[in-house]
Amino acid sequence: MKDFVHCVPTRFVFGRGAELKAGEQIRDFGGTKALILYGGGSAVRSGLLERVQKALSDAGVEYVCLGGVQPNPRDTLVYRGIELARREGVDFILAVGGGSVIDTGKAVAHGVCYDGDFWDLWCGKAKSRAALPVGVVLTMSAAGSESSNSCVITREATKTKRGLRSELNRPRFAIMNPELPMTLPPYQIASGATDILAHIMERYFTCETEVDLTDRLCEGAMTAVIRAARIAVKHPDCYDAQAQLMWASTIAHNDTLGVGRVQDFGSHQIEHELSALYDVAHGAGLAVVFPAWMRYHMHRNVARFAQFAVRVYGCEMNFERPEETALRGIEAHEAFLREIGMPLTLKELGARSEDIPALAAGTKKTNPDGTTGGVFHMTAQDIEAILRLADR
Ligand code: NZQ
Ligand code: ZN
Repeated sequence: MKDFVHCVPTRFVFGRGAELKAGEQIRDFGGTKALILYGGGSAVRSGLLERVQKALSDAGVEYVCLGGVQPNPRDTLVYRGIELARREGVDFILAVGGGSVIDTGKAVAHGVCYDGDFWDLWCGKAKSRAALPVGVVLTMSAAGSESSNSCVITREATKTKRGLRSELNRPRFAIMNPELPMTLPPYQIASGATDILAHIMERYFTCETEVDLTDRLCEGAMTAVIRAARIAVKHPDCYDAQAQLMWASTIAHNDTLGVGRVQDFGSHQIEHELSALYDVAHGAGLAVVFPAWMRYHMHRNVARFAQFAVRVYGCEMNFERPEETALRGIEAHEAFLREIGMPLTLKELGARSEDIPALAAGTKKTNPDGTTGGVFHMTAQDIEAILRLADR
């Protein structure tokens, strides 16, 4: 196991009606005037926004609102948020939504405290030194942004989607009411579950040895997510399934399951190119990329891929030909994704074969040698080959 420092300062307020505590939470963290961010309308239609506004008023917290965050959130709304927050003198950001709203909130929080163009922080031109405090009322179980150190924004003009990792990105609190995702369409529930699994798998397929505890935690979490997702896509009003997914979304991406391990995140970088170019749901993009990534790399650590097959999908171990077992695990994962309604090919996603070279070339290079991925370092040629595997 590798050495690590792990700090998740986010306070979790979990359960039915938890959004009514939004005002007192902001007060607790010293906020007096909040910018409430929300998305394209679901929070208005469900009455959630109104309940949150009342909770703030009841706690004596002033607020201004900015709606209209789109999935795969754009820099354009971030600029508007920064301008509004400065003009109104807000001292707290409250994101009411999923990953896109939360990430917009985080970006506004950095931008308000930075003198230049906030995108400097995302493209590596400058380092963020401060951010306003952010709180979250979570409406879908997926990205894990409610306690992650990450924030992903798309530069609209160039369709460049980039993440910023910073401990300043961890929200002060996350309000998690499993009733809220019940209004999601099944496709979004499935995309969310796929993203949750991908966050665990990015950590699970490590080259690190002696990580039995985190292996077992990952396997347990994946098994629970698979079970809960099967139920939630058919019965979105099942509180228990939504509750499992909601907590899994959080632990999957705040590194509770990833400490002490070399992690990969190459599939995520490839997917960000897809969602930037075609504006597809992030989880659906991962459903296409991840199995192809697994097929491409499994021979480099057959034992681990076979372990995944046996412990997560209950495949029988073939001791003579462990690569057969590894392959059965990938097939089982694909069958699960198919069962919950996810796409498995670029075509189903609406992606074009002729874009593959540009997608591969545009994928963010995360290593000093110009490759991508923490465990299996990939050149643009490797990424192109992976996308070709998905081009069916
Ligand atoms: O905009 P509204 O009307 O609210 O509709 C949203 C949106 O269309 C809808 N929705 C959310 N909650 C709902 C609901 N509809 C009905 N009832 C509810 N309770 O769902 C749609 C998708 O929302 P979005 O926030 O985009 O989904 P998600 O949480 O999957 O976030 C995806 C974004 O997060 C990034 C992704 O790249 C993508 O941009 N990620 C952020 C990460 C992070 N910050 O740690 C990590 C992830 O790997 C990911 O990259
Ligand atoms: Zn993700």
